[in-house]
Amino acid sequence: MDLNQLEEQLARIKAEAEALRQEADGIDALRSAETRLTKGPLADVLKSIKAFPPDQRGPAGQAINKTKQEIKQLFADAQSRLRQADVVGEQKKTATFDPTLPPPITQRGSLHPVTAVQREVERLFRGLGFAVVGGPEMETDFYNFEALNIPEMHPARDAQDTFWLTNGWLLRTHTSPCQVRAMERFGPPIRVIAPGRCFRYEAIDASHENTFFQLEGLLIDKDISIAHLIAFMKLLLREVFGRDVKVRLRPGFFPFVEPGFELDMSCMICDGVGCATCKKSGWVEILPCGMVHPNVLRYGKIDPHEYTGFAFGLGLTRLAMMKYGIADIRILNSGDLRGLAKADRLSGATI
Ligand code: PHE
Repeated sequence: MDLNQLEEQLARIKAEAEALRQEADGIDALRSAETRLTKGPLADVLKSIKAFPPDQRGPAGQAINKTKQEIKQLFADAQSRLRQADVVGEQKKTATFDPTLPPPITQRGSLHPVTAVQREVERLFRGLGFAVVGGPEMETDFYNFEALNIPEMHPARDAQDTFWLTNGWLLRTHTSPCQVRAMERFGPPIRVIAPGRCFRYEAIDASHENTFFQLEGLLIDKDISIAHLIAFMKLLLREVFGRDVKVRLRPGFFPFVEPGFELDMSCMICDGVGCATCKKSGWVEILPCGMVHPNVLRYGKIDPHEYTGFAFGLGLTRLAMMKYGIADIRILNSGDLRGLAKADRLSGATI
């Protein structure tokens, strides 16, 4: 072989490279065409260098290397053109994207209906000089029963069966333990409310859950009477519903109050006609209340001859159901946004 023949051969290889480049339909095809050329014909001409007379080997090697570089460049250019085309293709697919438009509307979170009424009632009572306190959901027998004038064998315990823990503690059945804790902590006079989660061993239906919310209220001072109690209860319901609500007061038995009352309100789900929520009675128990029993005051280290007071146990969960027209209590613990978002829609409450 002489230098002229070599040049011809290299030109043929270059032409082949050009043809392969045009055929290739993707990056992978380009890569394999390039290796096929370098390992095949280009490697062969490189081997043929030995056949050249020594003084021609230098120029021959240079010619081969130049061609090799050109082929490398040819494929590199082709690859980057393809990549560029890919990007442009992607951009074309999303060509409707307009960066000047506002972002898509995402669903905003909302307050749980119980939280919404809880905050409302808290605001009202704070304005009346009450402190908002909490208490443990895990209680001792003493605070949940004993100190509330419900001794061990008392039948009132049957109405509030609960979940007992292996250490003898229990999940509190009401927020009333907070009464005794508040008396111990603050001493008289006292104005507190204590909202919180309660538990009972219940057969679950449209109006009963094993987990629900109450809001306890306690006012202790000198010369407090039933008149104060009724005035506060009426104010509470009027504020929450924004109008006078039809209520009835019945005698009710709770060992920790004397006298004790059941304050019922006309069912707002059926307008007092009777439905599953009010068990066809047209009324829902919403606000059991009464004058604090002297024994409970004594348990709280307060002298019943000097101080009197009233207490109430607002059914927060029920109140939320009445206020937002939620017919089934089970919705509240279900995570079903169709029911849960109601408070936000109806009250404009914000997080
Ligand atoms: N703790 C009582 C219950 O859950 C309600 C109540 C509270 C009654 C305060 C009277 C006074 O049933």
